[in-house]
Amino acid sequence: MKKPKIAIIGLGYVGLPLARLFATKYAVVGFDINTQRIEELHAGKDTTLEVVEADLEKVLKSENTQEIGLYCSSGIEDIRDCTVYIVTVPTPVDKNNRAVLTPLLKASETVGSVLKKEDIVIYESTVYPGVTEEECLPEIERVSGLKFNVDFYAGYSPERINPGDKKHTIEHILKVTSGSTPEIAIIVDDLYKSVIIAGTHLAPTIKVAEASKVIENSQRDINIAFVNELAKIFGLMGIDTQDVLEAARTKWNFLPFTPGLVGGHCIGVDPYYLAQKAQEFGYHPGIILAGRQLNDSMGEYVASQVIKLMIDRDLKIKNAEILILGITFKENCPDIRNTKVMDVISSLRTYNTHVEVYDPWANPKEVQESYGVISSKKCPNKKFDAIVLAVGHAEFLDLDLNLLKKPEAVVYDVKNILSKEDRDKSL
Ligand SMILES: NC(=O)c1ccc[n+]([C@@H]2O[C@H](COP(=O)([O-])OP(=O)(O)OC[C@H]3O[C@@H](n4cnc5c(N)ncnc54)[C@H](O)[C@@H]3O)[C@@H](O)[C@H]2O)c1
Repeated sequence: MKKPKIAIIGLGYVGLPLARLFATKYAVVGFDINTQRIEELHAGKDTTLEVVEADLEKVLKSENTQEIGLYCSSGIEDIRDCTVYIVTVPTPVDKNNRAVLTPLLKASETVGSVLKKEDIVIYESTVYPGVTEEECLPEIERVSGLKFNVDFYAGYSPERINPGDKKHTIEHILKVTSGSTPEIAIIVDDLYKSVIIAGTHLAPTIKVAEASKVIENSQRDINIAFVNELAKIFGLMGIDTQDVLEAARTKWNFLPFTPGLVGGHCIGVDPYYLAQKAQEFGYHPGIILAGRQLNDSMGEYVASQVIKLMIDRDLKIKNAEILILGITFKENCPDIRNTKVMDVISSLRTYNTHVEVYDPWANPKEVQESYGVISSKKCPNKKFDAIVLAVGHAEFLDLDLNLLKKPEAVVYDVKNILSKEDRDKSL
């Protein structure tokens, strides 16, 4: 195969690091429908904070040429001369936790409108097995008039990046690959091998590759649900869950999961994709859905624990002032999508308390627009009746909580990062 020109469709948490990496060796066009995102990227600014600005600067091009480097655009004409299309758009669920394939189908429509004979389309978005071949490729065939596996080919290579993790960056994570024919599978695998230092694993089929990704996140969800259930049980028994886990972890094959809020758009979402497909086959995925249900109950549980602590200390609940430390869905990253800290906040508000949020990572405007909650990047200069450490941002380790506590204030540590002296209880 001639050296490809690569289009990356969707420049978010997954697409931009991938585009940046491929752009060190190939001519790449990063395409996104979000024109503001494209403008920011042209200015060398990545609001997801996934790509180091200096690295982005090294590959950015101001013109769409055949030279190595990354050109970002919202113009469909700019991807017309590409030969490999990699789709990295979101795969959310709706309010009934049903898979929303609209972004994938829209992206497929875009690709279909510029696709040429011999081109290859690779999907990276997390999906249930069958989405690539049964949903996306027919859309490409419809729009392009080209025939799958005759005129054009496909692959699936799930993304495994972990936002905020500066050690396991994209090139250091082994990547699963697959292709629609044995020959295309090798071409897809070689393409990723050329940039992924950690290497690749070529799966036998596209469906196997799709299934492998969705079970990675489902497995984490179920394991976290188990320790969350333990936290509830030991909470009732008055036993410190963290002490129990620390002791159990001394056995070589005990899995080191910790309790917590499971938010974001991967672990808390992907199991629903697998569950939906299982149900279509007439199978009730009891364990997967039980894990989801348990994990989704944790926000309300945390709030109830905080209120109990306050009552035990004779603190007045109505109009109590509560500080929430962190609102992003995980530590050291600005992503607030599907954050379960909102469940804690909503639940605390049902007790007529006043909640304030301090998060040095989250964008206050985005928090306000998404959730109607005021958050600040600066630590408040006042004292509270209760403090909930909800996210393990590194900045919170250096906070002097005494400056934020009224005399009888309680501190609840969801992430178990505070010393026992600094907290009243942890999850
Ligand atoms: N973020 C993660 O940690 C992570 C890790 C592994 C896999 N994934 C999966 O990767 C996929 C992408 O996730 P993400 O976190 O990068 O999403 P994201 O929301 O950060 O980025 C998606 C980008 O796609 C753009 N977009 C949406 N529809 C488009 C279209 N039709 N054409 C062009 N651009 C379009 C959006 O404007 C956005 O910039 C999802 O399936 C997700 O489950 C995410």
